Amino acid sequence: MDRVKTGIPGVDEILNGGLIQNSVTIISGSPGIGKSNFAMQYLYNGASQYNEPGVYITVEDTPEKVREYARAFGWDLEKYEKEGKLEIVAQPIYSDEKQKKAEAKKETLAGTIKRLNAKRVVLDSVTLFKYLFPDEISRRVNILNFVKMVKDLGCTTILVAEQHESTPSITYADEHFLADGLMIMFWLQHKEKHERCFRVVKMRGSPINPDIRPMDITDKGIIIYPTQVPLSLE
Ligand SMILES: Nc1ncnc2c1ncn2[C@@H]1O[C@H](COP(=O)(O)OP(=O)(O)OP(=O)(O)O)[C@@H](O)[C@H]1O
Ligand SMILES: [Mg+2]
Repeated sequence: MDRVKTGIPGVDEILNGGLIQNSVTIISGSPGIGKSNFAMQYLYNGASQYNEPGVYITVEDTPEKVREYARAFGWDLEKYEKEGKLEIVAQPIYSDEKQKKAEAKKETLAGTIKRLNAKRVVLDSVTLFKYLFPDEISRRVNILNFVKMVKDLGCTTILVAEQHESTPSITYADEHFLADGLMIMFWLQHKEKHERCFRVVKMRGSPINPDIRPMDITDKGIIIYPTQVPLSLE
């Protein structure tokens, strides 16, 4: 099976070489744990190291904010945007008909992916579908359509998902079953210390290392320690 390297320190070791090409993987976790940073690091590495263009779909942040967050890690997104290797798409929630019509004139997501010849896609976050489609069936159908679209276009995709509790166990949601892979991030406490942790829950078609691994957010981005044990589990 072909692999797509995330280039995030530690992650490709844990994933036996990287994400499975043309798969859809969810990164789920509590607020502020590092999901968006992880997803952007995947795209940034694609553009800067692997010559794989990427599209970042942001629901809550403006492209300016996304660039600003990236700059804190020394990632110059604009450089790659200018080279056509990265594009940030702010996907607003369609609140009224007027906005919907204005949106209809814009390039479709599939159009953007094709124009860039994007190999990597991030949707931050899949919670968008919850707001757009409050009823469960249309939500599922629309997530499935999105998944089909990015797969048909040959992309390897990360969906960011929100998790309301920070525990190593998670409350499974619809999207977890629709995706090929699931990775979670959470806090573990050891005495007065709180440690960010990472775990791969599933990866269809591939063996995984399901052990809990500690992670850090540094000024260069996310690092996961593929062989270390969290303090509280030592
Ligand atoms: N340079 C840095 N060094 C260390 N930590 C940093 C740095 N920059 C940002 N962070 C940390 O990154 C965290 C936010 O990460 P991120 O935005 O990826 O979280 P998230 O899981 O997407 O959160 P949300 O659910 O709110 O969107 C912040 O809590 C902040 O402490
Ligand atoms: Mg986020």
